[in-house]
Amino acid sequence: MRFYVTTPIYYVNDVPHIGHAYTTIAADIVVRNRKQRGGETFFLTGVDEHGTKIRRVAEVEGVTPQEYVDRISVAWRGLAGQVGAEPDFFIRTSDEQHAEFVRDFLQRMYDNGDVYEDVYAGLYCVGCEAFKLESELIDGKCPDHGDSVQYLEEKNYFFRLSAYQDRLLRLYDDRPELVLPRFRYNEARSFVAGGLQDFSISRAGETWGIPLPWDKSQVAYVWADALTNYLSALTYARPGQDLREAFWPEVRHLMAKDILRFHCVYWPAMLLSAGYEVPKQMFVHGYLMVEGRGMSKSLGNVIAPAEVIDVYGVDTLRFWAIRSVSFGQDGSVSRASIHERYERELGNELGNLLSRTTAMIVRYRGGRLGAVPGSEAIRTELAVLGATVAERIDAWDLTGALEEIWKVVRRLNAYVEETKPWELAKDGSRVDELDQVLLDLVDGLRSVAVALAAFVPQTAASILKALQQPGELSWENVAPGRTQPVDGIEAAPPLFPRLDAPAPA
Ligand code: MSP
Repeated sequence: MRFYVTTPIYYVNDVPHIGHAYTTIAADIVVRNRKQRGGETFFLTGVDEHGTKIRRVAEVEGVTPQEYVDRISVAWRGLAGQVGAEPDFFIRTSDEQHAEFVRDFLQRMYDNGDVYEDVYAGLYCVGCEAFKLESELIDGKCPDHGDSVQYLEEKNYFFRLSAYQDRLLRLYDDRPELVLPRFRYNEARSFVAGGLQDFSISRAGETWGIPLPWDKSQVAYVWADALTNYLSALTYARPGQDLREAFWPEVRHLMAKDILRFHCVYWPAMLLSAGYEVPKQMFVHGYLMVEGRGMSKSLGNVIAPAEVIDVYGVDTLRFWAIRSVSFGQDGSVSRASIHERYERELGNELGNLLSRTTAMIVRYRGGRLGAVPGSEAIRTELAVLGATVAERIDAWDLTGALEEIWKVVRRLNAYVEETKPWELAKDGSRVDELDQVLLDLVDGLRSVAVALAAFVPQTAASILKALQQPGELSWENVAPGRTQPVDGIEAAPPLFPRLDAPAPA
């Protein structure tokens, strides 16, 4: 089971915020879960360093573009680790091996007769790094980047995208799961059905990029350069190995809707032209907004990952990102919502369950968990958990997967109230019942911890440690009856200690 997941390569002109963290966290969750299920995985992330936008920021800062990207890519390289993600490789488009691959890729398109020269006269939005139609602008401005549109007239090389319309339509019709969710598939397909315009794959007026192999006076258009990263990385991530054999086309591209067109239309056509297979799947998630508005420096509402992590920890950021917005839909978040999830779900529901369970084992059984069978009621719940969660994750329903796990958390809390272990403990003749309830709780928490490991890795490890169960995360362990009897359980410290609510903004 081979599984290759990518995030977009982020533009380095900005600093990472929770929107970028969101995609990286989601990719990390699906990869970790695949690993737990025995999959052979590869996880790629990185940065998009070329283009006009980056060159201009470097100019403002008075350094060369290379100096600028060398400096700023450090923060981006750190993003994955900061949010607890474990990519296998971090690509930079200024890597020489990437440039070499891009030259070969574009040359293949050229040799295939899909590239021609023409004059481009029209509008270019530097913010989007994209050519715009008049009809896409509002009052002559880019709806996303305001004033960054400029008139361009230059000799460019064009890719004959129009020649790929039928092939793309066939591809969409043959592969209904090529793009998910379904409404994004429909959006991409109707874009193709509406007629495709050839697009420029080079820039004559730009110097910060990869020179074209057949005309060194032009550099590759930043998107033609960037999309290719998903393949180029496989050729040099592991020196001496060509990972394309193992992982192409077993790739899943993850991104937000802002760059759907580039991934779902331009990229498959470029691949077909260069003689590669198209990706297995593309999942387009929604946009995270802060209090109903897009995050931007000018609005001053950008949330940096560190702001959340420093107060609540990495796992809270990961949990909240997936839990508070249905994955695939747009959603609005707020600082108050982080606190609320932390306190209610992580603290009161999951954290308290562990504290209560361990405290009761200590108080009523001197820290000993006996080798008794669990009850039928709890066994039945746990028996289906692994399959249900895996199915949700495979359908990219990460929020739904978390909800399935949470149903068990809530069920276990209710079970404590129903069985009242404090009453069983008072009656010496009911000690077997008491042992069974305690075993059920530990077996449930252990299964929940393994199921949650991809979402909240540190929390999962803490739960297993507190219960003195093996840290082994393979998916078979999301099942009843795998708890080992132990002696010496101690009352666990709170997983999510109480914190003051944030001051109103
Ligand atoms: N460099 C291009 C991508 C090239 S991929 C071959 C680019 N970079 S970007 O820095 O603007 O990143 C855009 C991506 O960042 C989105 O598609 C999404 O994955 C993530 N997000 C940035 N802000 C986001 C939100 N507010 N909400 C959700 N995702 C966000 O485009």
